[in-house]
Amino acid sequence: MRVVVAGATGLIGSALLPLLGDRGHHVVALVRDGSRTVAADEVVVADALDPVAVRVALRTARPDVVVHQLTALRPMNAEAMETTARLRTEGTANLITSAREAGARKLVVQGISFATAPLGDPVLGEDAPLYLDAPDPTWARTVQAVAEMERLVLGTPDLAGTVLRYGTLFGAQTQYDPDGPFGARVGRGRLPIPENAEGVTSFLHVRDAALAALSAVDGDATGVFNVADDEPAEGSTWLPEYARMLGGPPPRALPSDIAEKVLGWVTNHQLTAMRGARTDRARTELGWKPTVSWRRGLASG
Ligand SMILES: NC(=O)c1ccc[n+]([C@@H]2O[C@H](COP(=O)([O-])OP(=O)(O)OC[C@H]3O[C@@H](n4cnc5c(N)ncnc54)[C@H](OP(=O)(O)O)[C@@H]3O)[C@@H](O)[C@H]2O)c1
Repeated sequence: MRVVVAGATGLIGSALLPLLGDRGHHVVALVRDGSRTVAADEVVVADALDPVAVRVALRTARPDVVVHQLTALRPMNAEAMETTARLRTEGTANLITSAREAGARKLVVQGISFATAPLGDPVLGEDAPLYLDAPDPTWARTVQAVAEMERLVLGTPDLAGTVLRYGTLFGAQTQYDPDGPFGARVGRGRLPIPENAEGVTSFLHVRDAALAALSAVDGDATGVFNVADDEPAEGSTWLPEYARMLGGPPPRALPSDIAEKVLGWVTNHQLTAMRGARTDRARTELGWKPTVSWRRGLASG
């Protein structure tokens, strides 16, 4: 099949390109900067937020399948989260319009598994409500954009849609890389742990994220799938263990009444309230399973 990967220079995209090539697909990388070297059979150039450029690029690429791995989260800050929200809404809409015009049959997109509202069980499936009314405006915008992206992907006639709701990514060059922003803080004992660190994180190695995208490209499953490792863990478990793996001191305790101020809303939410992700659906319908857990790889880059 002819497979276009948008976000081909990213961590997941660049892991996915050779996997697709090894399966015999004709791989077309959609990039912003045509001078970048990528492991693809062809390159087309477009800014995903430019509908005309995307249309021209996909007309040239003539894809059977389009894979959307677009984010702009490096560095992770409010502006980056807003740009990523636009990539998930406007960028997705641009890809859908152009993919249909170019004759594509399937769209596979990157979502997140940790947009669920912090209600009920500590580990939730795909049908759990999303945190659309999160009290933090940046997080509410993120969740609303994810919901809009899913609505677009699953609601387009003639285009089979698959949303891979990835867990919290780890691996080389992610935030959890020992030299990444989170790794550096934890390794130096600069990330204290709130007293009530009962929030659950489901992690996912970048290569497993790419393998799930490969399964989605090759298979017939459509819909929404949580994609994460087998060991959802409370903050009180993974953060001290991660500090130990990094050779850092145990995280110092942080009184809950000042935790949000010290950590920021999102990190405090992750450590105290976030839910993990059940992955049964990906196993049975996508035929995917994780190859590595955070316990083995979180600090290894
Ligand atoms: N589940 C999670 O935990 C999660 C989810 C998403 C992201 N992240 C964070 O993101 C990183 C890994 O994931 P990733 O592969 O999604 O991110 P990434 O490595 O930053 O890749 C993003 C891709 O999107 C492309 N892109 C951005 N804006 C674009 C635009 N306007 N038009 C065309 N292409 C555009 C980038 O191209 P350029 O090379 O041109 O910039 C790049 O190829 C890690 O740092 C991770 O911590 C985490």
